[in-house]
Amino acid sequence: MLRVGYPAAIDAEFLRDFPAEVELIPLPGDLDHEVEIDIWLPGVFPAEAHRLWPHLRGVRLVLALVAGTEWIPPITGPGVTICNTRGAGNIAPAEWVTSAILATLKYFPLYLDAQCSGQQWRRRAEANDHYARITGDTRSLYPPVTVEELTGKRVLLVGHGAIGQEIERMLAPFHVELTRVARRARTEPPVHAVSELDMLLPQAEIVILILPLTPESHHLIGRRQLALMRQGALLVNAARGAIVDTDALMDALNSGRIRAALDVTDPEPLPEDHPLWNCPNVILTPHAAGTCPQFTPRALAVAASELRRYLAGEPLINVVQTAIR
Ligand SMILES: NC(=O)c1ccc[n+]([C@@H]2O[C@H](COP(=O)([O-])OP(=O)(O)OC[C@H]3O[C@@H](n4cnc5c(N)ncnc54)[C@H](OP(=O)(O)O)[C@@H]3O)[C@@H](O)[C@H]2O)c1
Repeated sequence: MLRVGYPAAIDAEFLRDFPAEVELIPLPGDLDHEVEIDIWLPGVFPAEAHRLWPHLRGVRLVLALVAGTEWIPPITGPGVTICNTRGAGNIAPAEWVTSAILATLKYFPLYLDAQCSGQQWRRRAEANDHYARITGDTRSLYPPVTVEELTGKRVLLVGHGAIGQEIERMLAPFHVELTRVARRARTEPPVHAVSELDMLLPQAEIVILILPLTPESHHLIGRRQLALMRQGALLVNAARGAIVDTDALMDALNSGRIRAALDVTDPEPLPEDHPLWNCPNVILTPHAAGTCPQFTPRALAVAASELRRYLAGEPLINVVQTAIR
């Protein structure tokens, strides 16, 4: 009987739909002895997976519960097949991206700060100054600006996979001018190749990153790309921190050239004394965009169907690494 190790923190109720022909073995967050399993469902926290791996024996297949799996091969090496749960967690990150854009354009950080400082109405006028400073639009606007609109904005979506397509669906009611970018160019809908990124960046008012971290995407947004972005453009990163060069990003934020909304950072977790916390015009959340109450049952449903295919000897669908033995 195949043995499947899973995080003991997951309530067994969520594993009801797993095939009856496997033995389910709950794994605590720490192990002090060896455990023999064939298939491993690591938890979502890399540090825990690092601690457990040296104690696991016999693992052939890793069914990750997340879409971004770049942290797993450095733990397991190339000798195991790894699948992700592509498609299981599209909605929450896509909603986060939409919310982060709206929160930025409606100046929620400024108004929340005013609310917390007890100077709610008096600081209202700061919105107009903020608008002029960050966009470079110095026209004398009357009445003074208190928010910006998303509708009609030029959006560059870098990554047009499962989550990118969900973001496109959510932005559709705002009639944004959407330009899509992926690894390879294609038509219907038109998608540009990433090699065209430098040419596309200067037009965008909002740049969304939703692609995996790979050797090719590491620092995809570096000093040159940030310099190509328009004054006041918004960079939204819900993918992985290291896709952006953090030092170059902090320089661009500190000089008042761009704004950013980041669910992910490099390093992560962001140390308490890291200067990024104090940069202007940035919303930071602690890699929180994806884990909603619906996450676990959806991810486990994808893992369970992959497991059924494995038992039936059928090809696996979400393979991100094929075992090299
Ligand atoms: N913040 C969070 O909590 C959270 C939650 C879930 C996922 N994520 C991140 O989001 C990423 C995307 O997830 P997904 O499910 O949408 O993945 P996906 O379905 O595999 O789609 C990935 C997209 O990125 C494109 N891509 C890959 N490498 C690229 C490169 N070097 N340059 C430009 N585009 C590239 C792919 O291009 P092709 O279409 O041409 O292959 C594809 O369109 C995950 O890998 C993960 O890191 C974050």
